[in-house]
This record gives sequence, structure tokens and C-alpha cells, in this order.
Amino acid sequence: MITIESVELVNVRSIGRAVVEPLVDGGVTALNGPRGVGKSTVLIGLLYALFGTTPDGVPAQALRRQGSEGEVKIVVTFVHDGQRIVLERGLKGRNDTPYAKVTLNGIEQTVGKIKAANEWVIRRFGDLDATGFLAAFVVRQKELDALVKARAADRRALFERLAGIDRMSDAVKTARAEETAAKTTLEHLPGSAEEAAAARTDLQRAQEHAATAWKDFEAASAAVGAEDQALAQATEHFEDVTARVRAHQEAAQTAQQVEHHRVLTAERAQHAAREVDRLTAASAGGTAEAVHAARAALTQAQQAVAENQAARAAARTATAAATADARRAQQAQAAAARARTALTAASAEADKQARLTTAVPADLPQQLQAANARAGELQEQRGVLRGEYQRLEGSIKALSATVDPTCPTCSTALADPQELLQTLRTALDRVREQGVTAKAQQEQAAERAQALAAQIAQAQQIQQAAEFARQQHQAALAAAQEAEAAADLLQAEAEASAQDARQAQTRAEAAVAAEGGVRTAFEAASARLRQAESAAEAAAALAQALATAEEAQTAAAAAVTAAEQAAALAAAAAVPDTERVQAQAMLTAAGQRVQELRSAMQAAQAEHRLAEQQVKHSEMARDQAELRLKNRAAAAAEYERRTAVREALDTFRKDRIARLAPEVSEVATDLIARMTSGRYVSIELDEEFTAAVTDDTGQTRPVTWLSGGEESVVAFALRVALGELWAGQRGGLLFLDEPFTAQDVASRTAMMAAIRDLPNRQVIIINHASEATDMVDLVLNVVPDDETGARIEGASAFIEMPEAVLAGIDEDDLTPGPIASDDRSASIP
Ligand SMILES: Nc1ncnc2c1ncn2[C@@H]1O[C@H](COP(=O)(O)OP(=O)(O)OP(=O)(O)O)[C@@H](O)[C@H]1O
Ligand SMILES: [Mg+2]
Repeated sequence: MITIESVELVNVRSIGRAVVEPLVDGGVTALNGPRGVGKSTVLIGLLYALFGTTPDGVPAQALRRQGSEGEVKIVVTFVHDGQRIVLERGLKGRNDTPYAKVTLNGIEQTVGKIKAANEWVIRRFGDLDATGFLAAFVVRQKELDALVKARAADRRALFERLAGIDRMSDAVKTARAEETAAKTTLEHLPGSAEEAAAARTDLQRAQEHAATAWKDFEAASAAVGAEDQALAQATEHFEDVTARVRAHQEAAQTAQQVEHHRVLTAERAQHAAREVDRLTAASAGGTAEAVHAARAALTQAQQAVAENQAARAAARTATAAATADARRAQQAQAAAARARTALTAASAEADKQARLTTAVPADLPQQLQAANARAGELQEQRGVLRGEYQRLEGSIKALSATVDPTCPTCSTALADPQELLQTLRTALDRVREQGVTAKAQQEQAAERAQALAAQIAQAQQIQQAAEFARQQHQAALAAAQEAEAAADLLQAEAEASAQDARQAQTRAEAAVAAEGGVRTAFEAASARLRQAESAAEAAAALAQALATAEEAQTAAAAAVTAAEQAAALAAAAAVPDTERVQAQAMLTAAGQRVQELRSAMQAAQAEHRLAEQQVKHSEMARDQAELRLKNRAAAAAEYERRTAVREALDTFRKDRIARLAPEVSEVATDLIARMTSGRYVSIELDEEFTAAVTDDTGQTRPVTWLSGGEESVVAFALRVALGELWAGQRGGLLFLDEPFTAQDVASRTAMMAAIRDLPNRQVIIINHASEATDMVDLVLNVVPDDETGARIEGASAFIEMPEAVLAGIDEDDLTPGPIASDDRSASIP
């Protein structure tokens, strides 16, 4: 049960700010006001607050009162199943974004998004959405006509919608779709009981085969085990024979080696005997005395050869010395001849220089001294004359200036200065001449002095050259004497050396003559010595060879014995061929048998493995077949369940449809009797929801035969009846939007009375005017205000009833006596 406690609207459509607080404990509340003031806006706001829906699906932003600023909100407070719920919705922000807020028993719920809030409300009403809410709790004039006048199909749809059957139809449709899907799934699913049974049989067969294969394998394994032992014995025997063959081979090898040794030893003994024979022959005559005598003869021969060689060497040396001395003597004589020539030249030069020295005068220095003194005197004289001349020249210049006619300021005290001037000039000329003479003389004296000085220098050079020539002469003399003495000496020496050489030559010639005999003797002595020495060596080796031969003989005898023994051993170790071949054959045969049995065992094992695999395959096949069967069974069950659901829903729906007309007819019959004050006693809906009414005379006629007003009453009765079926015993809100439009006062009163009698309903009625306010417990006026928007004012039914409306009402229809506003309405400002 839902009961509205208040609806607050701010800036919604035509309303500026209003709070509607209807009666909550069973009374009827009326919303009064002129056309277009905002009465239905309250219902629109209520629906928006509850479900977020707007009329005709316009956007929520269209709810904002045009020209208004600030908040837009609707706050609905209501009680549902004993719990107080506050739903607030509105627009906020620059873009008028919708928001929602839900408070349950004073605790704000976290619903978040708008959609979540919508879902929260629908859930709270037990899946009742906006359409259901309208069907159950709201009666609007618009729908009423369609309930009786619409085409059959539309009417039926409308009835079903208002009765909530369309929701059921949807559920049936969904269930049918699910049923079809389940059927399709089942049809497409593989698997069957036969298939599963066949798979099980296959598995059994495979298991039996695997068991047989295992037994075969075990038998083959046992056979292999038994034959393995025989093979081990054959192997052992064969290895024994093989070891013996190997031992015989080794003994034969040893005997061969020993025989080889014996042959070698015998050869060595023969060789030693031959060597002894040879050495015995070679050692004849090899005594120590013979060797000594041969050695002495050789020494003598060697001495003779040495002397011979020394004599020839001495001859060569002496000849060379003589030749060298002769050459030095020649060189010394040539040097002596050169020294004599040099002496002769030096003597001539010394004589020439001596002559030149005697030709130079002895007083040359004195002459030079006198010439220099005369030049000095003349120099002095020239100086005096130069002074005199300059003095005279100065005087003449001074005097000439004084007597110059162009000098007006000059004057002289002399009577005739020209005469004095002439005298001075003459004296000057004379001095000049004397000077020139003195200069010439001085130059002559100087030249003479220079010539004398040159003469003196020349004389000194001559003297020096003479002295040098004299010394040269002395030296050349000494050298010549010395060279001659040396030449004499060397000559003597050369002669002596030639003498010696000649003597050495003579001796050498004698030695050459003797040389042939000496060499022959030497060679004979050497040969004798070599013979004697080798014979002695052979004699020494003979003893050694004898010992060796003896040893070889002994070794050869021992080797013969050893060879005989080794041959005997080898013969003893020999293995008969038959035995060896037999052992080999036995081993091969045993190996082959084992090999064959082992192959058989492997084959059996492979067979068993295959059989096991086959078992696994069969198991898988069986599992799959069973799984398919299970899935199929599950799908079949699902299909059955879906079919059952669909059938149940369908049955239920059909039942609802079948019962809807009679049930509505029943409730509507009750209502129509009261709303028409007994003129009509029943309403009957057929299967097509076509209504027929029966009047108080018992006559039944289709609703279309009725007057417009009567038709409206029937429609209203049907509509309220539908609502009653929805709300059931629970009651609660019944919001009526202008239900009495086509009714006269009496009719309206009767209808109101019927409504008032509905049990447990909170009736809010939008009344275009205050036509039936005498039946209303609380009147709320919607007051227009162009500037601030319409608002709600509480009022008594009589005060608010406009005169114009009252004028049209039959006085008798009005039941006197106002219904006083309750305390709450009085408190509304
Ligand atoms: N967003 C809006 N802003 C301002 N006015 C609006 C807005 N939307 C609708 N209206 C106006 O609000 C007025 C109230 O409309 P409403 O349906 O509530 O009137 P009413 O009182 O039920 O009138 P009637 O008796 O004719 O049914 C109308 O005149 C309508 O044109
Ligand atoms: Mg309206």
C-alpha cells in the first residue's frame, strides 16, 4: 500500500514553489484551480519523482519552469508497506543535469546513477513500473473514452494493459522464445542410448583383448628367462675355450722367439770362430822389439827431413835479406846525390846574398836622419808664412771695407788708404810665393827621406836572406855528409848479406841433392812401423775374440735347450680345432634362440600396449558417448522445464484473461449501481470486453446506446474497477485527474459518493472547479502567479468555489454544510 504524504515542487512547469500535502488517513483531497494553472503538473511531478518518466517522453529539462533560474526539484514523501521513503529528483548544474536522491526511513540510500535510482524504486514496489503504477493508482480522463469506444482489438489491449496482463504476455513470449531455443539446442545435440551401449560393449571387448595380450607377454617373458640361462652356460664354455686357444697361441709365439734366438746365437758363435782364425793369421810378427826398432828408424828419418827443410829456409831468408840491403843501399846513394845538389844551390845563393850586402852604403841611417830634419824645418817655415799671409789678408779685407764708396756710414782716418792697401797686397804676394817655394822644398825633402827609408828596409831584407842562405848552406852540407856516410855503410852491409846468401844457397843445393835418399828411408821406416803396430793390435784383439767365441758357443748350446723346451710347451698347449668349432656353434645357437624368444616377447609386449591403447580409446569413446547422452538428457530436461514454464504462464495468462471480464464486471456492477443511484444495476463485459449494461427494469443494452454522460460513468466505473483489481485489498493512493468532466452535479455527487466508499483508498482528485467540494475533505487551490509561478494554497471548499461555477449548479444538488479543513490544511500558508 502506497500513501503520499507530500509532494514539493520547485520551478516545475507552471509551478514556482508549492507543497501539496494530501490527507493520509482516508479522506479525499481535491486540487482545485482554473484551466492550465498547474494541477496536472502535480501528477506529472509525482510520476517524475517516482520513476524518472516525463509525459510523452519529453526530456527532463522540459520540466524546468520557463524563465526560472535556480533549482528545479520535486520531493515526494510517501509511505509504502510501513516504510517512509523520500524521493528527490531535479536538475542541477549549468546543463540542468538530472539527479536523484532516495532516503529510506531517514537514511539516504546510495543509488548513484539515475538508472540505479529507477531500478531501486521499481524493486521497492515489487516490480511495479510507471505503467503499472498508472494502471493501479491513477485514473486519467484521456483513457476513459477508449475503454468503451475503442476498436475491439485496441480495447482488449487496453484492458489487458490496465490489468497488467500485457506484462504477463511479455513473460509468455519470453518463455516461448526460451522454450524454442531449448528445443533447437536439443535437436542439434548428438548422442543416444544405443551409441552409449555400443561404446560400453567396445570397451569390454578391448579390455578382454588386453588381458589375453598380457598373458601372452608373461609367457614370452618366462621363455626368455629360461633360455637366458642356457645362453649364459654356452657363453661361459666358449670363453673358456677361447682363453685356452689364446694361451696356446702365446706359447707358440714364445717357442718361435726362442728358436729365432737359437739361430742368432749359433750364427754369432760361428762368426766369433772365424774372427779368431783371422786374428791368429794377422798377429804373426807383432812383437814389442820390432815396433821399437821401426820407431827409432822413423825418428832418424824425420830429423834428416827437418834439417833439409831448415837449410832451404835459411837460404831463402839470406837471399831476401841480401836483396833488401842492396835496395836500401841504392836508396841511400840517391839521397846522398840529392843532398849534394842541394848543397851546391845553397852555396850559390849564400854567395849572391853576400855580394848584395856589400853593395849597400853604410851611412844610410845618417842620411835619413838629415833629410827628416830638413823636412821638419821647412814645415815650420811654412807655418810662419801661412800666419803672416792670413794676417795680411785680414788687414786688406778690413781696409777694403772701410774705403768702399757704397758704405755711407763708413769712414777712415787715413789720407790715402789705397796706397797702404797696395803695400799690403804686395807683401801678401811675396809671402804667398815664399810659402809655395817652402812647400816644394819641404815635399822634396820628404820624398828623399822616404827613398832613404825604403833603401834601408831593402838592405835589411838582403841581410836577412844572406843569413838564411848561409844557414841553409850549413845544413845542406851536414846532410850531404851524413847521406854519404849512410850510403857507404849500407853498401858494406849489402855486400856482406850477398856473401851470406851465396853461402846459404850452396848449402841448400847440397840439401836438395840429399833429399831423395832421406825421403825413401823415411817412407820405408813408416811402413815398417805401421806393419808392426797393426800386427801388435791384432794380437791384442785375438785374446778378446777367443773369449767372445767361447761365450757364444755356450750361449748357442743354452739356446738349443731353451728352443726344445718351448717347442714342447707349445705342443702341449695346443687346443683341438673340433672343440673350438663346437663351442662356437653352441654359443651361436643359444644366442639365436634367445634373440628369437626376445623378439617374440617384444611383439607380445607391443600387442599388449596396443590393446591398452585400444582400451583407453574405448574408455574415451564411452565417456564421450555417455557425456553426450547426459548432455542430451539435460537439454531434454531443460526443454521440458521451459515448456512447463511456458505452459504454466500461458495457462495463467489465459486464466487471467478469462477471469478478467467477469471480475471487472462484478466490481463495476457494484460501482455503477451506486454511481447512477440505482438506475443501472449491472455492467457485463463479454470476451471482447464489450460492455453491456442492465437498467433497473432489467433491460440490457450495449454501452454504445447510452448517452455521452452515461457512457462516461460506465467507463469510469470500469476503470476504477480495474484499479481495484490491481490494488486489491491493499488499497492506498487513487489519483483521479478530472473524472467528472461530462457529468452534471447529481451525477458527480453520486460518483464522488461511490469513490468515498472505496475502502482504504487515499483519494486525490484533480477538479477543474469546485463542483463536488461538498464531498471533499480537503481543498488545495492551485493559484496562478505569472511572475513567481503558480503555488498551492489551502482553502475550504466553499470559500474557493468561484461564482461562475456556482452559477451553473443547481442549488438543490448541493449538500449544505462544509467539511472543515483539518488541522494540517489550516497550517498551510
Ligand atoms: N516548462 C514549462 N514552463 C512553464 N509553463 C509550462 C511548462 N510546461 C507546460 N507549461 C504550462 O503549464 C500549464 C499547466 O499545465 P497543467 O497540465 O498542469 O494544467 P492544468 O492545471 O492541469 O490544466 P487543465 O485544467 O487544463 O488540465 C499549462 O498552461 C502549460 O502550458
Ligand atoms: Mg490537467
